[in-house]
Amino acid sequence: MKRLNIAIIGLGNIGSHLFKYLNDNKKILADKNNCQPIVKYVSAKNKNRKRKIKIKKSQWLNNYLDATKLKDVDLIVELIGGSDGAAKKLVFNALKNKKHVVTANKALIAKYGDQLSRIAEKNKVNLEFEASVCGGVPIIRSLKEGLIANKISKIYGIFNGTSNYILSSMDNENKSFQEVLTKAKMLGYAESNPSADLNGDDVSSKLKILSSLCFNSFLNKDIYVEGIKDIDKTDIDNANKLGYKIKLLGFAELLNNKIYQRVHPTLIKKNSYVASIDGVLNAVIVEGKPVGQSIIQGEGAGPAATTSALVSDISSILRGNIKFPFSISSKKRKKIRFEKIDNRPFSAYLRFEVIDKPGVLSNITNIFSKNRVSIKRLVQNPDKNKKSSSIIIVTHNSKDKYLKKIIREISRKGFIKSKPKLIRIDNI
Ligand SMILES: NC(=O)c1ccc[n+]([C@@H]2O[C@H](COP(=O)([O-])OP(=O)(O)OC[C@H]3O[C@@H](n4cnc5c(N)ncnc54)[C@H](OP(=O)(O)O)[C@@H]3O)[C@@H](O)[C@H]2O)c1
Repeated sequence: MKRLNIAIIGLGNIGSHLFKYLNDNKKILADKNNCQPIVKYVSAKNKNRKRKIKIKKSQWLNNYLDATKLKDVDLIVELIGGSDGAAKKLVFNALKNKKHVVTANKALIAKYGDQLSRIAEKNKVNLEFEASVCGGVPIIRSLKEGLIANKISKIYGIFNGTSNYILSSMDNENKSFQEVLTKAKMLGYAESNPSADLNGDDVSSKLKILSSLCFNSFLNKDIYVEGIKDIDKTDIDNANKLGYKIKLLGFAELLNNKIYQRVHPTLIKKNSYVASIDGVLNAVIVEGKPVGQSIIQGEGAGPAATTSALVSDISSILRGNIKFPFSISSKKRKKIRFEKIDNRPFSAYLRFEVIDKPGVLSNITNIFSKNRVSIKRLVQNPDKNKKSSSIIIVTHNSKDKYLKKIIREISRKGFIKSKPKLIRIDNI
């Protein structure tokens, strides 16, 4: 039987789990793929670190970059992380030296995916990155293979388990953002520095990769990004009263011949499918022709789910055939203009914490009418003790730029007590 020699570089949460999985499942993988995977080498930063896996002396590479030069390495699995530094050096060198690459590194692919795929195609090797988007949810292979027949018009969903855990726990356990974040760190759902999860950057990297696969385009930076760090318990409770849930969603969509990419907290109907996805789960919804709507849901992160995606990529290489990393040849990928969301219409939830005095409400509603944004619903919750009032307004569809203008204008008013909120509503 054919053999494929693998080097795993990076033996942290994911690398050690994959190492163990490949050792324990050699036979079944060989039977399924008609080619035997051999973990020939491994490397990480610190040779002396205690690890839960048993590494043979002959497997350890003192210099991780040696994997890119050794003749008896066919495939390098990069599990270091980060868009630059060691991971970048490893993957560029590996592809230049005609080694197949499998990576879980969304930051690297979102930044250098176009350059890397050109090198892979030129050198006729595979570059696979299923594990970089939504952990165990096999969305990339689905887009490249299972859904190949389709012209995709929209992809959206929950792409970040940490944010989803925080939002759904605030809702279900009646806790504040800070309380839930602390618990998420304790359970290992949030990193000690969770900023990329909370400010939307993690979803943005994943969405860039997905939309280029959906629209056969190069990776594109024109993407509106807003995270969940300003969402508080009051917004969650208000949403509930209005019949909505708040979710951090990513969207890439074709609308009236324009393509938009956007990441932001979104109010969605309580009884919608996406509203039912709680905790660390991810869900991806694809709309295309001829398939209609297709949904995949599952664990978005963690060693087990990520290993599942990595093994799918490794198996694809074991089975042979060189595939285009982004599904279509780099020569045929397009430079598409992604529109800013300024002119895209949204219905929205706006919240103003104000000093409770006569004239404030009419001042606010005048600014809405001046900007020709019509109000669908208005709720006022006065707090007599604090002499303040919370004003919640749900608008009809209006261009995003006018909604933002209203927020800017009202923020400057002396009666405003804290930063006003704007959360877009989507009818999914
Ligand atoms: N954790 C998840 O749930 C998850 C899910 C999907 C994708 N991913 C992606 O998977 C990748 C790995 O994540 P992880 O959670 O396993 O990270 P991790 O636990 O921090 O592990 C990183 C590994 O890289 C090694 N490393 C760091 N700098 C290095 C260098 N200069 N040269 C060689 N090795 C170096 C470290 O070595 P030492 O062990 O010696 O320090 C460690 O073994 C990242 O791209 C991440 O985004 C992770």
